[in-house]
Amino acid sequence: MYSYENTVKYSLDSLPFIRDIIYRDSVGSTNVLAEELARTGRGEWTVVVADSQSNGRGRQGRVWFSPSRINIYTSFILRPEISYEYFPAISLLAGMVVAIVIEHFVNMPAELKWPNDVMVEDKKISGVLLALGTDLNNKSYIVVGIGINVNSDTKEYPDYITTSSTSMRLLTNKVFDRSSVLNYLYTVFHEWYNMYCVHNGFNGIREQFMRRFKMTGKQVNILNGTEKLSGTVEDIDKYGRLVLKSNNNETIAVKSGDVHLI
Ligand code: BTN
Repeated sequence: MYSYENTVKYSLDSLPFIRDIIYRDSVGSTNVLAEELARTGRGEWTVVVADSQSNGRGRQGRVWFSPSRINIYTSFILRPEISYEYFPAISLLAGMVVAIVIEHFVNMPAELKWPNDVMVEDKKISGVLLALGTDLNNKSYIVVGIGINVNSDTKEYPDYITTSSTSMRLLTNKVFDRSSVLNYLYTVFHEWYNMYCVHNGFNGIREQFMRRFKMTGKQVNILNGTEKLSGTVEDIDKYGRLVLKSNNNETIAVKSGDVHLI
């Protein structure tokens, strides 16, 4: 019988590196569920997929609007054998992979906004949320959460996101099979994740990332909670930090925050 659950399982079962697929019609947040599993020691490439989320989480404490039947909400566990300081930039890796996947399906260029927003025609089409932690055996884990606006009509979204977001369907007028997008997402992620681990961090993906990063040389404000920094974007370092030249000529490496072009 056709159901999202069956097609997701069928499609991801064909990927030999995926250890376990946990599907829910509805869940609070796939990230929270994946983190619970990671804490009890579940292995790398345990994948959670949900059709909808009642409490989808975004970056900086925001909400991720997660209606059923149209979009992708997925989280998975990684346990990379690389130095811990290279863990955070896996969120940049995830954004880059999503950009590659979206370009493949919609055939339009995607741009990366640091740290991991994927933009098409200046509108946000996906979001990445990373959680780092240690499990009961003191082994570290990463949970990567990815949301992609696949078939949603973002014009029907709440006002605060309608104008700034888009979806694969809105861009192309086509309806996409979410399981095929998931299959390609995990295939491409696996490839680039290996590259990331072999090269110990962002330098392994730098060339692919920078091709889609258009902020170098731009004047920006960075907001992180109540903290605000301003300067000119110079680069991204090997830990995935945004390197800024501040207005009084200091070089600052920023770990997190929301970037706003001035
Ligand atoms: C952002 O604010 O841009 C990040 C949004 C991340 C949303 C995804 S959807 C799957 C996973 N589960 C969550 O609760 N959040 C992430």
